Amino acid sequence: MRLGGVDLTGNLLLAPMADVTNLAFRLMCKKYGASLSFTEMISSDAIVHGNEKSFLRGMTCEEERPFGIQLFGHCPETITSAALIIEEMFEPEIIDINLGCPSPTITNAGCGSALLLSPDVVSSIFASLCENVDTPVTAKIRILESMDQTLDIANRVEEAGACAITVHGRTREQGYQGSADHSYAKRIKEELSIPVIANGDVKDGESAESILEYTGCDGLMIGRAAMGDPHVFYRISKYLEHGELIEVSCERRRDDLLEYIRLLEKFDLVSHVNMKAHSQWFTRGLKDSRSVRMGMGNADSHSSLIECIRNMCRDVQA
Ligand SMILES: Cc1cc2nc3c(=O)[nH]c(=O)nc-3n(C[C@H](O)[C@H](O)[C@H](O)COP(=O)(O)O)c2cc1C
Repeated sequence: MRLGGVDLTGNLLLAPMADVTNLAFRLMCKKYGASLSFTEMISSDAIVHGNEKSFLRGMTCEEERPFGIQLFGHCPETITSAALIIEEMFEPEIIDINLGCPSPTITNAGCGSALLLSPDVVSSIFASLCENVDTPVTAKIRILESMDQTLDIANRVEEAGACAITVHGRTREQGYQGSADHSYAKRIKEELSIPVIANGDVKDGESAESILEYTGCDGLMIGRAAMGDPHVFYRISKYLEHGELIEVSCERRRDDLLEYIRLLEKFDLVSHVNMKAHSQWFTRGLKDSRSVRMGMGNADSHSSLIECIRNMCRDVQA
């Protein structure tokens, strides 16, 4: 798939996820075949005000490229100023704008999925970005109940000059409940000329294949299925290429978790809270993992957590 002038190696993208898609995790997904990954959403206001923590979220390295930075905001001028700053600092291949976050802290400020109710503001944001910023811009939307209103937003994004759009097939009201409705991505793909990426409930090779076939979309974006399991990109790619079904072993999960932690250390991103959260995800779905997960939850130091991880496959099966 070609996106914003970049030839991607495939069509499986890692979704932006707050507190999940840091540089270390993105590198793990890339290693297993994610062809483009996104930072978690970063506040345009915080960037414009020089907030250091927000800048850290845009950190990358050559090995990761191509990568995308996702911004959220509501004011076209502020989003454009923030995009110009991050363009200069990090030179991302893509700048994505969040039109999907349902969290009240975001929507009460008019950002994320609240923007879907202000189509004129959406047009202004993308027009301003596409006119002033050199980096190709993409949009990530949720659906509205009305197909016509959803199509209107998608058309506006394309008309303003965005180079692709990702469609998460849930409404803001649904949050993460229910299943994603991909009929919206299908209609948008039929109507638009830019690449359309379907998002929502891609969890394995079979779901990936059926969503690609049904929607006719150019690519898929994977979120929760990758949490604690970056190897999912490899399994889905192999399934799409040859119909091959691959199992993931406990040893693979353990080694991936240890590698994730090594990368956190390498990039000075270690946080005990983050490591504990990721450890829980990396042991999700493993049989007889209760005591291992409890041990991880109770680990009160870096070294005791590492010890738990090293031993995690003694009592656990994939
Ligand atoms: C923990 C978490 C954090 C998320 N953070 C973001 C975010 O920063 N920006 C965004 O556009 N979507 C965010 N999302 C939504 C995902 O990108 C994705 O659209 C959603 O999870 C549906 O895809 P999935 O079914 O593959 O998980 C987040 C989702 C989760 C679970």
